[in-house]
Amino acid sequence: MTIADISEAEVDQLHALSIGVGWPHRAEDWQFLRQVGKGVVAMDNIGRVLGSAMWFPHGDKFATVGMVITSPRLQANGTGQWLMRHAFTHLDGYNLRLSATRAARRLYRSLGFVAEKTVYQCQGEAIAPDAPAAAPDDTILREIGRGDLPSLGKLDQEAYGADRTPLLSELLSHSKGLGIFRNDRIEAFSLCRPFGRGHLIGPVVAKSDGDAIAVIRPHVAEHAGRFLRLDTSQTDGPFSKFVDRSGLSVFDTVTTMRLGEQLVEAEDRNDHPGIFALASQALG
Ligand SMILES: CC(C)(COP(=O)(O)OP(=O)(O)OC[C@H]1O[C@@H](n2cnc3c(N)ncnc32)[C@H](O)[C@@H]1OP(=O)(O)O)[C@@H](O)C(=O)NCCC(=O)NCCS
Repeated sequence: MTIADISEAEVDQLHALSIGVGWPHRAEDWQFLRQVGKGVVAMDNIGRVLGSAMWFPHGDKFATVGMVITSPRLQANGTGQWLMRHAFTHLDGYNLRLSATRAARRLYRSLGFVAEKTVYQCQGEAIAPDAPAAAPDDTILREIGRGDLPSLGKLDQEAYGADRTPLLSELLSHSKGLGIFRNDRIEAFSLCRPFGRGHLIGPVVAKSDGDAIAVIRPHVAEHAGRFLRLDTSQTDGPFSKFVDRSGLSVFDTVTTMRLGEQLVEAEDRNDHPGIFALASQALG
């Protein structure tokens, strides 16, 4: 096998690779990921794609890693290790984070990654919320557009710990976005876009469960009766209860793992924004 840049692979082959391991990505999802990230593929001597690994830099010190796949007939033969080592040659000096499936935890542990927290992949046929969309007191809930990008990027950075403005800009082109504004300042936002089997809500950033619920409720209402997904590390609070009541039950879990320094994540939800939903497992 040889290593090639992921931009050289045909999108249909990448799509077939992820279908082969039971992942829901559409060809369009791969196209989007290639637009916002970089990666390598393993090709055999007749040009078939048998493995992939991608990374998504946010600035020059931090990147997420994702779309690490090896074709089932090649698994447990060292291809995953090999692909990751090639990815590492492009990631010198970066702190890394990824969402590890159960199948991949051992691979990442052997590369030095340490576990952080559990992410719940919640999905299902959305159920219309019993209460209508409403903004919390003294706030305005409205659609967000390109003009909101600078303030969106700032709020997101406070919550995430790295500047994801370029990614948010690309996501905005494919998403419907909603924000909560207090005295003209953005306090919470959510994006919702087509992904996999239906639509995906994420990222969601807010300072409280109440605000986080308010920015996702309209998306749930809009997609009632259809497939909807949201990936979150929230447990037990009003937000996760609302997600569950909305028909999105836990389908699977992954573990976030990091290599290098931990990103600062605000813990005090009253004063600092927090991440209530991931952009996706690969994007973080
Ligand atoms: C996870 C995945 C990429 C691993 O790829 P791979 O080519 O099998 O990886 P490797 O052969 O390099 O194995 C890596 C380690 O896992 C171990 N391993 C791999 N498959 C295993 C299995 N079925 N049972 C036990 N150990 C296994 C290997 O022994 C190796 O351990 P070591 O480094 O301590 O020697 C591959 O299984 C896959 O594509 N799975 C489906 C998609 C997925 O979950 N991707 C991960 C996204 S986070």
